[in-house]
Amino acid sequence: MSEFIIELKNVSRYFGSVIALQDINMQVKLGEVHCLLGDNGAGKSTLIKTLAGVHKPSEGEFLYEGKPMTLTSPRQALDLGIATVYQDLALVSLMSVTRNFFMGRELTKGWGPFKYFDTQTANKIAVAGLAEMGIEVRDPEQAIGTMSGGERQCLAIARAIHFGAKVLILDEPTAALGVKQSANVLKVVAKAKARGLAVILITHNVHHAYPVADRFTLLNRGQSLGTFLKADVTREEVLEMMAGGQELADLESELAEFQRADSADNDGGNHALDAGQAATNSMQKAANG
Ligand SMILES: Nc1ncnc2c1ncn2[C@@H]1O[C@H](COP(=O)(O)OP(=O)(O)OP(=O)(O)O)[C@@H](O)[C@H]1O
Ligand SMILES: [Mg+2]
Repeated sequence: MSEFIIELKNVSRYFGSVIALQDINMQVKLGEVHCLLGDNGAGKSTLIKTLAGVHKPSEGEFLYEGKPMTLTSPRQALDLGIATVYQDLALVSLMSVTRNFFMGRELTKGWGPFKYFDTQTANKIAVAGLAEMGIEVRDPEQAIGTMSGGERQCLAIARAIHFGAKVLILDEPTAALGVKQSANVLKVVAKAKARGLAVILITHNVHHAYPVADRFTLLNRGQSLGTFLKADVTREEVLEMMAGGQELADLESELAEFQRADSADNDGGNHALDAGQAATNSMQKAANG
């Protein structure tokens, strides 16, 4: 078997005249978190949709477990073990935790027209599956809409792992979450990795990407600028890759220019500010003394 579970060779994807991906080479390993970086419109979502069977590559080769493969549907990708958690999560708010856990793979009892959803067994499996990922559920029959965003994200990931995913693809799982909930999601990501899954993670947050990632692939306008091992790049370098270091530097000098123009224009305003600052300082002194 190949060293890599997924390999892309010179993959391109066009939408009419738009080149969303061009000549992408990428390798994904089991037991690693592979972070996809790049600005808005860089092609990250298109790339993972190509891996998930949503888009067919216009050109190039897709290898799964060393074998060339043409994915024709997301269902086929899922059956192979490639599970994707999109930002909208594909959960149904009004349905229970258990129902969402089993969606599309319902456990049934009985036969033919007498088949029914085996709620009791399903509840137990869902609670156990979630507990394995460190997620406590009080009541598996509670509607998913009553859970927080982080819990829902964790449920979607736990569900994929429970049903035997080998590759877990996450499109910005922490984008809408606070610090604590993000930490929970990242813990689940680390658990998936520890179980030997390959995780492909998209995020715009360097503080989320750097601690969990083993490799970084940087996309820029549909092209790959290469894959880097964590050992070879610092957090600052990753940040620069994410933000576009040059653009930040340009922005800084532009802002400095604005400030200079501003202070030249209204010197009087600045004096007023200074006076305000002095008043605040003396108030603070009074409060401290
Ligand atoms: N179905 C489509 N039809 C036409 N153009 C598309 C389609 N999907 C994506 N594109 C184009 O491909 C390019 C890459 O888009 P993509 O959504 O992959 O970027 P992204 O890196 O995920 O961006 P973001 O960070 O904003 O999610 C964009 O220019 C986009 O307009
Ligand atoms: Mg996207």
